[in-house]
Amino acid sequence: MKKEKDTRGVHGNIVCIGAGYIGGPTMAVIAKMNPDRRVTVVDIDAGRVAAWNSPDFALPIYEPGLVDVVREVRGRNLFFSTDIERAVKENDIIFVGVNTPTKMFGRGAGRASDLQYWEATARNIAKWANGDKIVVEKSTLPVRTAAAMEAILRTHEQFHFDVLSNPEFLAEGTAIADLLTPDRVLIGGPKTPEGEAAVETLVRVYRGSVRVEADGCGGWVPRDRILTTNVWSAELTKLAANAFLAQRVSSINAIAGLCEATGADVDEVARVIGADRRIGPKFLKAGPGFGGSCFKKDVLNLVYLCESFGLHTAAEYWTGVVRMNDHQQERIVSRLFRELFNTLANKRIALFGFAFKADTGDTRETPAARVAQLLLDEHVRLVVTDPKALVNARRDLADCPDVVYEDDPYRAAAEADAVLLMTDWKLYPSLDWARIYASMRKPALVYDTRNCLDAARLREIGFRVLNVGK
Ligand code: NAD
Ligand code: UGA
Repeated sequence: MKKEKDTRGVHGNIVCIGAGYIGGPTMAVIAKMNPDRRVTVVDIDAGRVAAWNSPDFALPIYEPGLVDVVREVRGRNLFFSTDIERAVKENDIIFVGVNTPTKMFGRGAGRASDLQYWEATARNIAKWANGDKIVVEKSTLPVRTAAAMEAILRTHEQFHFDVLSNPEFLAEGTAIADLLTPDRVLIGGPKTPEGEAAVETLVRVYRGSVRVEADGCGGWVPRDRILTTNVWSAELTKLAANAFLAQRVSSINAIAGLCEATGADVDEVARVIGADRRIGPKFLKAGPGFGGSCFKKDVLNLVYLCESFGLHTAAEYWTGVVRMNDHQQERIVSRLFRELFNTLANKRIALFGFAFKADTGDTRETPAARVAQLLLDEHVRLVVTDPKALVNARRDLADCPDVVYEDDPYRAAAEADAVLLMTDWKLYPSLDWARIYASMRKPALVYDTRNCLDAARLREIGFRVLNVGK
């Protein structure tokens, strides 16, 4: 029997399935900005849930400011649990933030999204739902995934489900600031009366309830920054937004190679290009190539979608963004090889930084891992140092037993032939480089792939210095 009264979202309590980089921080901020709602985050990974609940706040991910928010809300209106069934039953707004990695088998291997975790979640919701629910896609998904979600949920005859797309745009390292003051929040929903009501329910979550404004909520995201679209536009916008950002990084890295060949300076070129307000200055920093869990995966997913719809030239265009990125790491190692007299065997090289960017311990798809592998192929004696990512680095390089890990960058550099700076940690420019120089084998080389060190000062000390795009 179909229920007569529409009760979706009336209690306003929220669960997020998936307690990862997205689920944890996003829900912590939703709980902070909605003190009157109960927010639960659930996961099948009991170890991860235990870390979120750890008494000493040893959270499973490092993100500046995250601990403070979790301290404020955990146990007040934010809870972490492994009891997914209970959470589905007790909450009427269900976010799904499970992982959607690149599929590594069968059709679309190496490009398509692996949707098995997503589908398992949809089936659990259908199995355990005990009332009408609003289901919110938080994970990044191929366009039209909501239709599959609906098809699975529709197997449940008794209750009504609305599936919304609410992709997340936060960047790691700045997640809390991005969540507290987002450029925009995107909500895609069906253009039906129920769909529009569900969108409004989610709008109220993002408006927050720390201050009461004219619409009865407020204090968080201003209404004009909450953009609503149809579901398919929202799903595709997320992939397109990441592809545009990744494409800018590949474009500037393509120019960097040309700068090295011609004597131009990529930072100068980027500064002037970015001064054009139509282009803007952000995402024009040449470096070792983009890493992180999403850019490559999402661009490859876009490639797969283009191919699936017969848009082969568009697929080739986006493939070039990833190819350019892979090439950047090969170029860095080739240049180091040339500069170290065409042999790297038995040379000690210190990688400064292993995280894919500063202010995160995340090493997924980090350019440092690929560079490390290319160096190990040349029989380098590799030392890795990073302020936050050494645990993940050890796991990523577990097959390479001879790699040495050092917390202390000074110990990492001692006796090294070269320091290869891979991550733009703020710590690195402030190190005592004269001390580092004194401890290294001569001629001592610094290869700064982030162009973040004072090259003139390093040369004064006696270093040979390489940069990207100079
Ligand atoms: P993650 O791997 O850190 O976390 C995903 C979590 O989901 C894991 O803890 C896993 O155990 C859990 N999970 C998997 N299947 C489950 C199931 N059936 N039931 C309950 N839990 C389950 O991944 P992430 O980085 O948080 O990314 C999640 C999604 O968010 C991806 O689609 C990603 O593209 C998207 N996203 C990530 C970022 C980011 O900065 N990491 C930013 C925007 C969007
Ligand atoms: C990126 C997007 O910025 C987020 O909006 C998006 O939500 C997220 O992906 C996602 O979907 O997961 P993130 O990967 O965390 O966020 O970090 P970015 O700051 O975008 O950096 C990505 C990579 O590009 C890093 O390796 C970074 O060092 C590199 N990068 C970035 C450059 O090399 N140059 C630049 O100018 C900018």
